[in-house]
Amino acid sequence: VSIAVFASGSGSNFEVLVEKSREQAWPQEIALLVCDKPGAGVLERAERLGVPAYVFAPAQYPDKAAYEQDVLQLLRKYDVEWIVLAGYMRLIGPTLLEQYPWRILNIHPSLLPAFQGKDAIQRALEYGVRWTGVTVHFVDEGMDTGPIIEQKPVLVEPGDTLESLQKKVHFVEHHMYPAVIRKLLTGQLIPPRDR
Ligand code: GRF
Repeated sequence: VSIAVFASGSGSNFEVLVEKSREQAWPQEIALLVCDKPGAGVLERAERLGVPAYVFAPAQYPDKAAYEQDVLQLLRKYDVEWIVLAGYMRLIGPTLLEQYPWRILNIHPSLLPAFQGKDAIQRALEYGVRWTGVTVHFVDEGMDTGPIIEQKPVLVEPGDTLESLQKKVHFVEHHMYPAVIRKLLTGQLIPPRDR
């Protein structure tokens, strides 16, 4: 069995996940990257790290179900047990959710349920919150709404800019996501359906 990472963007989380999984010899390897954005930065990282990357163009499918059916075929080839979203800018549909109950994770750069959706770091800064943070959660059909697994706070300091706050949030993400996934893989953390 193995792990698939889904990403659409720069892929800094993807990269640390691959590095940590190798360093710490996780019981399952990150066997592939699924990317829905041709040309995304994450693809270069996958190549450099030697992780097979598969690019899909969802717009070329009649609907989400058809797209996810193709992705599902690929996941079966790799015997994927866990789907890890890392900046995947698309809602997961019933096709994948039904096949992966309690097996799809997401990381979101806010303390959910605050600032769900896009540009969460910028919106937190503009709102003027004193604390923001990072959430890792199970994925359901909503946008950043699934059951929360772990949260960590990040202090917003006077003078913080989007860049400085992004840096702090990413730093926390890069430690937190591998740690949570490792705990799930090693049984230190047990999803509700397995209890
Ligand atoms: C992260 O901030 C993550 O929380 C959000 O998308 C961003 C992805 O960043 N879901 P990267 O592509 O891993 O650098």
